[in-house]
Formats: sequence, C-alpha cells, structure tokens
Amino acid sequence: MLYLLTKNRNKYEEIAELCKASNLELLMLPDDKIELQADTLEEVARYAAEQAYSKHNKPVIVDDSGLFIDALNGFPGVYTSYVKKTIDSKGILRLMDGVSNRAAYFKTVIAYADSDRIELFEGIVRGMIADSVHSGRDFGFDNIFIPEGYNKTFSELSIEEKNSISHRARAFNSFLSFYKGLVYK
Ligand code: IMP
Repeated sequence: MLYLLTKNRNKYEEIAELCKASNLELLMLPDDKIELQADTLEEVARYAAEQAYSKHNKPVIVDDSGLFIDALNGFPGVYTSYVKKTIDSKGILRLMDGVSNRAAYFKTVIAYADSDRIELFEGIVRGMIADSVHSGRDFGFDNIFIPEGYNKTFSELSIEEKNSISHRARAFNSFLSFYKGLVYK
C-alpha cells in the first residue's frame, strides 16, 4: 500500500486520477508536511518524506511544488505556499504589472521514502502568467497560469487535461515507472 502525505485535496485528486490508469491504490495520509526552510523543492521534499516515513512507518510519497516566474528571478519558487496565503494570485499580478516577459514554470518534486531508500522525481511545465485572475477549479495559482500551447489557464482545464501536461503528472509518471520496477521485481 502506498500513501500520499498531504492535506491538500486537489493534489490528492490529481495524483489519484493518475493512479487509476495503473491500478495502483493510493491512500491519502492527511498529516502536516514538515516544511524545512530551504532553497530548493528537492531539499523540502526529501526532508518531509524522511520525517513522514519515520513517523508513520509506511511507504510514502510527498509532493512539493512551486511556481517560478522568470521576470521575478524564480520567485515565489520554494515560497509559493506562503505567497499563496499572503498576497495570492492578485498580488502576483500586481508584481507583474507592466512586465512584458510573462514566462514562468511550475515544478513538482515527488519524494518517495520506504525502509530502504529515498528517491526524488521531478516534473516541469512551462507557460505564461495571465493578465487577470481566471475562473474554474480553485487550486493554488492555477487561475493565473497558462500552460504552453494553450489559451486557457490550468484552472479552466479538467483534471484529465491538466494531467496530460502538468508538472505533477510528469513527476508522478516518472515515479510510477520506478515504483513498478520496485514492486514487480
Ligand atoms: P506545496 O507543494 O504544498 O508546498 O504547495 C505550494 C503552493 O503551490 C501551495 O500554495 C499550492 O496551492 C500551490 N500549488 C501546488 N501545486 C499547484 C498546482 O498544480 N497548481 C497551482 N498551484 C499549485
């Protein structure tokens, strides 16, 4: 049995949808992710997975994600969660007022921990920061992020559509190839 440590329903829904296709059962472990103050998603995800495994003694994955805006030198990056809670999408749009370079990317790092190992998997999707807050599914900064090749924000796509290109799906699918090798070896 595999657990996803998160209290975030949206993350769980997206990842659970990806599991369906592989017949993998994934349970939500609704505990706090211990957030290390660090410069990279990799460090945050690794530490949180280590802590989660030692606390729960179950094979666990942790997803740490962030939005990196080119014109803001990668901000909010590892601080995405704090920026969401404070200035939110409207605040980001204010920071981007008059900025013509709207390029940005989302990145997810998934850390897997069990008794023998910790492994990291990453996924990135590039796109643009919209000019206004869009409607749709309410998840993080999805309402201002337009993925490359689309003219809608992530919030306006279905979970299946988002999963066909997202940072999270890319990271998770790379984890899945590793995990299948582990389970079926
Ligand atoms: P964390 O990975 O839980 O630390 O999430 C960091 C922040 O990014 C949170 O505020 C989330 O709401 C936001 N976030 C995480 N994943 C996504 C996503 O796929 N789209 C938009 N926002 C996200």
